Amino acid sequence: MSRTPFVAGNWKMHKTIAEAEEFVSGILPLVGDVDDVQVGVCVPFTALQAVVDSTRGSSVQVYAQNVHQATNGAFTGEISIPMLDELDVHGVVVGHSERRQYFGETDAALREKVPALLAAGLEPILCVGETEAEREGEQTEDVLRRQTTEGLADVADADLARVTIAYEPVWAIGTGKVATPQQAQDACAFIRALVADRSAAAADAIRIQYGGSVKPENAAELLGLPDVDGALVGGAALDPKSLAAIVQAARA
Ligand code: 13P
Repeated sequence: MSRTPFVAGNWKMHKTIAEAEEFVSGILPLVGDVDDVQVGVCVPFTALQAVVDSTRGSSVQVYAQNVHQATNGAFTGEISIPMLDELDVHGVVVGHSERRQYFGETDAALREKVPALLAAGLEPILCVGETEAEREGEQTEDVLRRQTTEGLADVADADLARVTIAYEPVWAIGTGKVATPQQAQDACAFIRALVADRSAAAADAIRIQYGGSVKPENAAELLGLPDVDGALVGGAALDPKSLAAIVQAARA
């Protein structure tokens, strides 16, 4: 099956509402009517409403960067799925390594977050990836197996293809050290095989993004790999021209 490429920009903790609006004005003329690549921006909570409004009717979809698994409750500082759904966001990035490293995100919480998002009709992007020490200790496959199988454990087989998995080796994030094509392909193929253990049809349909120092200059090579179906882009997604160039590379 041919999978529609999916390029998402993750702004992390960047952009005020005014800066977000400026980005949207810049990117819409460049990719606003692209229909052969799915395009998303992962926006800080405070700018979500503005970006949902200003991208409405375009092909740019809006994602949040985290969510709590409970519908509501005494969880000071957290945001629930109904709160995001009310804003009309398209989906949520969960399990980013920065949340795992700095904010105690666990596989157990992700096991609840992913199916809860699907149940609400929102699209999850589940991030997985090994640290440098784990790669050097030859634990990459163990880490990817644990993070992928736990995160998807409570997703019904019929819903697996609605999840996007982002393979982001932690050592490649924000470092300029991009995975080699062979490393990216091997990891994404390994993740797809894990999905195939659940459902061959889902493995064929699920999108797996590569993330970690993706730039316009290296995007075509990474996006051309057989098991890489898109990119999750950090630094290079802060500028509309550079994110648009990566979207163009995904069309080839
Ligand atoms: P960089 O593209 O800045 O390496 O970040 C990748 C990332 O973490 C996207 O979620």
